[in-house]
Amino acid sequence: MNEPMSTLSSAAVQLPIASRMDGLRGEGAFEVLASARALERKGRQILHLEIGEPDFPTAPHIVEAGVRALQNGETKYGPAGGILELRVAIANHLASHGINAAPDDVIVTPGSKPILLYCALALLENGDEALIPDPAYPIYDSAVRFAGATPITYRLDSSTGFAPDVDAISASITSRTRVLVLNTPQNPTGGVIDEGRLNALAQLAEANDLIVIVDEIYRPFNYGASQPPSILTISGMRERCILVDGFSKAYAMTGWRLGYGLVPTPLASRFALLALNDHACVPAFVQRAGIAALTGTQEPLHSMINEFAARRALMADRLAAIPGVRIDAPAGAFYAFPNVSDAIQAAGITSAQLATKLLQEYGVALLPGTAFGAAGEGYLRLSFATGRADLDKALTLVHECFRSLSS
Ligand SMILES: Cc1ncc(COP(=O)(O)O)c(C=O)c1O
Repeated sequence: MNEPMSTLSSAAVQLPIASRMDGLRGEGAFEVLASARALERKGRQILHLEIGEPDFPTAPHIVEAGVRALQNGETKYGPAGGILELRVAIANHLASHGINAAPDDVIVTPGSKPILLYCALALLENGDEALIPDPAYPIYDSAVRFAGATPITYRLDSSTGFAPDVDAISASITSRTRVLVLNTPQNPTGGVIDEGRLNALAQLAEANDLIVIVDEIYRPFNYGASQPPSILTISGMRERCILVDGFSKAYAMTGWRLGYGLVPTPLASRFALLALNDHACVPAFVQRAGIAALTGTQEPLHSMINEFAARRALMADRLAAIPGVRIDAPAGAFYAFPNVSDAIQAAGITSAQLATKLLQEYGVALLPGTAFGAAGEGYLRLSFATGRADLDKALTLVHECFRSLSS
């Protein structure tokens, strides 16, 4: 099919693009997905291990609730912060994890991403500093820069299972530090922050008067014997934390765009104003689907977690068998983050060049660790939110590629 061509002349108008736009960054996952789709349009077969999107369909009872809402005429504007029934369902859900959440402090957004942007816009002045992990989900850096503030990275290292080094974070705090961003379970490393570290981080936040933005969107995907509690359950932290969470991962609802923030009470009306200015409200049928997700059977979530646990083991075993690759099975989320530095150093290439080679020559789409920050050099991220048959084929091809590097 021919794609329509633009008929606009690019030379005609000098657009006055605001300098803050230079702060915005893209997402490697979407960029690689676009390159993979372009190859597919040319007839190539691509195995998709790049995007963090469960391959499971949204459960039927959730879809039905959305369809029913549309049929019942729920097609109008609604409250900016979300309909009360969903905010109540979210508050109850969080209470079941020990988090004290009043429905009025919940802001419902189209996906959880807007909450990250709202945090940056509402909390950071020009020149303020925000502590963010490296490697990390790239939107933290982008949102902070867009707000005119400076991201200060703290390194996540495989020696601690990619959990933050509290002393190193403490040493990075200056008089301009306002915000500490935590993500647990973490994208891309799968690291989970244990209870001891959460307590130490809470003390650090209190001592330095920091607001903690904690992204727990991968909470259900935890493969350890027990789930560490949320930092919001620690005394005094609910008032200084913003919880970022959503339906994309747990309920396989990426395309519905449904997420939320739990904010300290004084921020709730500010975040609702940001939502009002930004998108007015999340469509009511999407919110009804969200209520069904939280209050209906959790069986689809549990079977997805069991399947991901099996894939995690498969992934870790197969990657560990490749010479030049080091991997510990991830503690959480649904990504393998193998260290490939021995192999790429021997071959004289970077992890980005290796990822490109895997896509172009082997048809395997995955991400270089550097898509998540400079500390990701020497790593690859492979999503196991992809069916086992495809994972199996992809891992055979990855092995072949590494063999070709060393020959
Ligand atoms: C750590 C993390 N936070 C937030 C998001 C945003 O997800 P959504 O906007 O679909 O809720 C993602 C998506 O990949 C993520 O990995």
